[in-house]
Amino acid sequence: MPILVTGGAGFIGSNLVRFLLERGHAVVNLDKLTYAGNLASLESVRAHPRYRFIRGDIRDAALLRSVFAEHAPRAVLNLAAESHVDRSIDAPGDFIQTNIVGTFCLLDAALAYYEGLAGEAKRAFRLLHVSTDEVYGSLGPGGFFSETTPYAPNSPYSASKAGADHLARAWHRTYGLPVLTTNCSNNYGPCQFPEKLIPHMILSALQNRPLPVYGDGGNTRDWIYVEDHCRALSVVLERGAPGEVYAVGGACEKTNLEIVRFICDALDGLSPREDGRSYRERIAFVRDRPGHDRRYAIDASKIKNELGWEPAWNFEEGMKKTIAWYRENERWAEDILNGSYRLERRGTGRETP
Ligand code: NAD
Ligand code: TYD
Repeated sequence: MPILVTGGAGFIGSNLVRFLLERGHAVVNLDKLTYAGNLASLESVRAHPRYRFIRGDIRDAALLRSVFAEHAPRAVLNLAAESHVDRSIDAPGDFIQTNIVGTFCLLDAALAYYEGLAGEAKRAFRLLHVSTDEVYGSLGPGGFFSETTPYAPNSPYSASKAGADHLARAWHRTYGLPVLTTNCSNNYGPCQFPEKLIPHMILSALQNRPLPVYGDGGNTRDWIYVEDHCRALSVVLERGAPGEVYAVGGACEKTNLEIVRFICDALDGLSPREDGRSYRERIAFVRDRPGHDRRYAIDASKIKNELGWEPAWNFEEGMKKTIAWYRENERWAEDILNGSYRLERRGTGRETP
């Protein structure tokens, strides 16, 4: 029986699909292919005998019914989402539709399917809802988010993810659907859409563009290499307890300025500028993001103590691999940047609804 992955053509989803196939699982990938969905990220597994791709929207109840009936998944991993804070500031509607309404549709379809199962298939069925640490709001200089931190989302993105998390919890408590939820910190790695900080800076530097740092560059994120997140999802799916929430983090706090400087210094060595100057000169402090959360940091002791997971990648190795991937996959990036997104600034104001 396959695992149904929603949003499998996105950044984390495509890494997860490859991760699961490499470990012997069968995977059905249901993805709408929004601007962020990219089948080029899955080219290496396109014809894999244990892989199927279905283009579709998680809000399409009839499609979901037929996918569950035809593929009889043993589990669902829900990654389909609108995922970028800056876009959510300009145009929150799609975030409400996919992240909240879509999660509702998926939970409801999964419940109908689950209720029709019997025996071992029913006992083993799980739905893992993949969420973010951003639902907890913003930390001051000290402390950590954990599973018991009260929700306090600040952006339309995090508010829509918080809404989805509450629905996931309710479908477990009210209807008995075996739901698990993970709240993970900022991921980086291959195949991340270049609107996000790390690929944005790598590709902007390689194109000799300015490197726009929001505000004073002191905002802090807890970075995790995407493969560590994929392994955490797999561990939670196989060994986590239904109804439980697991916070996942990289134990790697960096300010945005530290990240950008790291990328500049790495590229100074790998791909020196023609004029011999450092990429650091391209750093430009720009107007801050509205509602910009200051600091995220995760206490991941629950998943470590109960399920034995901890991050395996250190930041330097993960970044080396990521920077190398973007340099070696120019075509992947070019195809994106020839489309509707060209590294321009977003998230400074609300579009007229
Ligand atoms: P992404 O934007 O790269 O990919 C999202 C994918 O979902 C795309 O392939 C898109 O086509 C698909 N999608 C969007 N709307 C859909 C719909 N209505 N129906 C079906 N498919 C749809 O996002 P990502 O960074 O890979 O994040 C994946 C998940 O992980 C999201 O739920 C996100 O909230 C969560 N998450 C991300 C991070 C991070 O740092 N990127 C951290 C923690 C949690
Ligand atoms: P982002 O990758 O958008 O992730 P999130 O907002 O979900 O944490 O941004 C990470 C951090 O980098 C965030 O503090 C905003 C900042 N940032 C910049 O300073 N410049 C940029 O060009 C981008 C895209 C982000």
